[in-house]
Amino acid sequence: MVNIAIMGHGIVGSGVVEVLRHNCESITKRAGDSINIKYILDLRDFPDSPLVDFFVKDFAVIERDPEVKIVVECMGGLRPAYDFVKRCLLSGKSVVTSNKELIAKKGCELLAIAKEKNLNLLFEASVGGGIPIIRPIVQCLAANEISDIVGILNGTTNFILTKMVKEAMPFDEALAMAQRLGYAERDPSADIDGVDACRKIAILTSLAFGKHVDPDLVYTEGITGITLTDVAYAAKWGGVIKLIGRVRRFSDDRVMPTVYPAFIPGYSQLSTVDDVFNAIMVRGDAIGDVMFYGRGAGKLPTASAVVADVVDCVKHIKARKYLFWEESEPGYIKDHATAFGEMFVRAAVTDYEGALSWLSDRFHVVRVLSDPGDELAVILTGVEGEIKSALLGDAPLEVKNLIHVVD
Ligand code: HSE
Repeated sequence: MVNIAIMGHGIVGSGVVEVLRHNCESITKRAGDSINIKYILDLRDFPDSPLVDFFVKDFAVIERDPEVKIVVECMGGLRPAYDFVKRCLLSGKSVVTSNKELIAKKGCELLAIAKEKNLNLLFEASVGGGIPIIRPIVQCLAANEISDIVGILNGTTNFILTKMVKEAMPFDEALAMAQRLGYAERDPSADIDGVDACRKIAILTSLAFGKHVDPDLVYTEGITGITLTDVAYAAKWGGVIKLIGRVRRFSDDRVMPTVYPAFIPGYSQLSTVDDVFNAIMVRGDAIGDVMFYGRGAGKLPTASAVVADVVDCVKHIKARKYLFWEESEPGYIKDHATAFGEMFVRAAVTDYEGALSWLSDRFHVVRVLSDPGDELAVILTGVEGEIKSALLGDAPLEVKNLIHVVD
C-alpha cells in the first residue's frame, strides 16, 4: 500500500479523491499497488465529508510523516504551494501537481531538487487539463526536433469566445457561466487576460526545448478587448477568433513564445475547437504535425491527469521519470515585435480612401473587409513592431483593434 496526501480540497483536489475512490479497483491494478489517502490538507472544515477523519490543517503533519510517499498539490497559486512542494521534495516525497503557476515559475528549481533527491515531480494536469501533452512531448515525441507548438490552452476563454461567436452572449454572462461550471481560475483575470495560457505555453516551451522560460517574459494579450464587431469581421474573412498560445523555434535555437487572440481560418482544425475544449498542435521534424484534443478544464478531466501521474509515481517509486529543463541564458527569447505576419486592423477614419491608401503605401494590404463608411477594417502583412509603431504614430486613423492572424 502506498500512502499519499492531497493538499487542497477545492475543485481539482476533490475531483482527485472522487476519481481515486470511484475507479479504485482498476487504478490499483494499473499502479500495481493500492493507493491510500492518508491526509487531506485544507484550512476549511468538511464535517459532512466521508473523509472527515483524514483532514488536517497543519502541513507539518504531512511533511513529518515518513509513511507518506507521494503528495498531490491542488492548492493553486504560488504561495504557500511553492514552499510546501519544495519541503515535500526535500523530505523525500514525490509530488504530483496541477499547478501551472508553480511549474511555470519555479519548475526549473523544483525539478532540480527532485533530480537530486531521485524523486518524481509530475505535472501532466498543468497544461491542457485532461489532455495528455506533457508525457507525449517528453516520451512519445522524444525522437523529434520540435519546431512549433500552437494551441488553444485556456478552456474558460475558449468557452467565452464560443458563446460570443455562436450565441452572441455578452462577455460577462459567458464568464459567469464558466465560473459556475468550475472552469475559471480563482481569479478569472488570469484566464481573460491570457495569464493562464501564458503559464501553459511557458511550461510547454521549457519542456520541449529544455530551457526555462519565465512566464513574465512571454508576450501576452487577453481577450477583454475582443468585441462582437471583431467577431463579425473574422466571420466575413472566413474564420473565428481564438486565444492562441504559440511558440516557434528559430534556426539560432532561440524561441518566441506568445499568447494573443487571433483570427484563425475556418480550414484550420483549431477553428473547430469549441467550448471548454483545448487543442495543441506540435510540429516535429520526424512526425510532422500531431494534434492533441480534449477537455482542457473542469474537475474530473483535470483529476484524470493528476491521478494518472499518481499511478506513474507509484509505479516508479524508486526511479525517476525524465522531466527536466535547465536555466536559460539572457536573450533566449526572441522579441515578438520582430515577427513578420498578417494582422487585422480595425480603425475609425475620417477619410476612408485616404486612410486605405496611407496603409497600402506602407504595408501589403491583403484584403479589405469593410465597406466604405466611418470604419476601415483590413488584413495586412508586415513586421509586427513596424505595423504597431506606424499605427500609433501620426497615422490618419484611430485604431480600434489590432488582432493577429494565425494560419
Ligand atoms: N482556468 C483554466 C482554464 C483551468 O480555463 O483553462 C484549467 O487549467
